[in-house]
Amino acid sequence: MKNVFVNGYGSIGSRITNFIKDDLEINLIGVGKHSPDDKVNVAISRGLKVYIPKKKSDSFSEFKISGTIEDALDECDLVIDAAPAGHGFLNKKNLYEPKGLMAIYQGGETVYGDKAVSDLLFNSRVNYDKGFNKKHVMQGSCNVTGMGRILQPLKEKYGNQLVRFDVTLVRRWADLDETDNEVKDTIEWSENPHQGDDVKSYMGKETPLFLRAIKVPTRQMHLHIMDIRFKDTAPKPSEFLSTFKNEYGVATLYTAKGTKEIRDFADTMNFSFKDTNMIHIHANMVESIQDTVKMMYSDDQTGIVIPENHLLMQAMLFQKEYSKAFKHTEELFHMDEKKKLLEEHFALKK
Ligand SMILES: NC(=O)c1ccc[n+]([C@@H]2O[C@H](COP(=O)([O-])OP(=O)(O)OC[C@H]3O[C@@H](n4cnc5c(N)ncnc54)[C@H](OP(=O)(O)O)[C@@H]3O)[C@@H](O)[C@H]2O)c1
Repeated sequence: MKNVFVNGYGSIGSRITNFIKDDLEINLIGVGKHSPDDKVNVAISRGLKVYIPKKKSDSFSEFKISGTIEDALDECDLVIDAAPAGHGFLNKKNLYEPKGLMAIYQGGETVYGDKAVSDLLFNSRVNYDKGFNKKHVMQGSCNVTGMGRILQPLKEKYGNQLVRFDVTLVRRWADLDETDNEVKDTIEWSENPHQGDDVKSYMGKETPLFLRAIKVPTRQMHLHIMDIRFKDTAPKPSEFLSTFKNEYGVATLYTAKGTKEIRDFADTMNFSFKDTNMIHIHANMVESIQDTVKMMYSDDQTGIVIPENHLLMQAMLFQKEYSKAFKHTEELFHMDEKKKLLEEHFALKK
């Protein structure tokens, strides 16, 4: 039994704990909170112990706190950092490294430059084994994880037939549970989006990926619009789509008209947090024209990285064979069943 601590209880930390608290191979010590707000009691009501930074002890006097983050870290084998972007790096330097701890970081951090948290950006479909014997590893962000689920199967099937990938990331403004983050009525564009370099860090820097990103006023998932150019005539949509038939965490939908419809279905089916934990190829939007396949898929921004964290945790803590880790993750996340339900619901009706 290994001891794990989750530092941060926002969109990502709350989801991770919800699943790993039921993992019989893990003792979840508790979660780290930094602000004395309602979420402290939410965590406690879910049976979690809450720990706080030593220097903030006074501001949590009205809450039933179990101790300091510093003390909780002394008890743990691995910490999953779920802090806001950039704070993971600071936590590494100030807390995890001095204590010699293993740590997983989230997608708001970087693997480049002097603020790098690791030299490994994890994507279970591509580099699961590289997590073995690593002390510090970064889990890719939601967009970066989603792109790997498309690019790696294509690379394996079509190899040097692939000439280039041009992607526009249409990013959500905020998450469903971020109610204090106002969704502004504007479209913003990002200069030098990090997602392209992040994908290349695990797919290979020579990957012919060209990317731009905009942010739009929605809380309902990201949408990736991707054009894939082939050396010769591109495959027909049916052949192209068959690549993803048995891919983990990739559902192929024919009748969804928008991202909210998918989340609403997830809600109807009582999927945890209304998450599907996957990407959804919109098969009705796939076209093959001369040398190019044009496609769209939506990406469950909050859910997609949660099973990935669980797989990475098993690689780092237990060096488990991929098939065994995958089976264990599936026992907690039921991704195959979710995929089946989504594909049936959004199938072409005869
Ligand atoms: N949201 C997504 O869709 C998504 C998807 C993939 C990856 N990510 C990445 O996951 C990470 C976390 O994002 P999030 O959306 O979960 O953020 P979030 O909802 O803002 O939650 C951040 C949490 O971290 C806590 N915190 C604040 N300062 C901290 C510190 N120094 N150390 C540890 N925890 C601290 C906050 O505590 P208090 O509330 O108590 O202040 C809060 O519970 C980021 O790197 C982000 O880029 C996010």
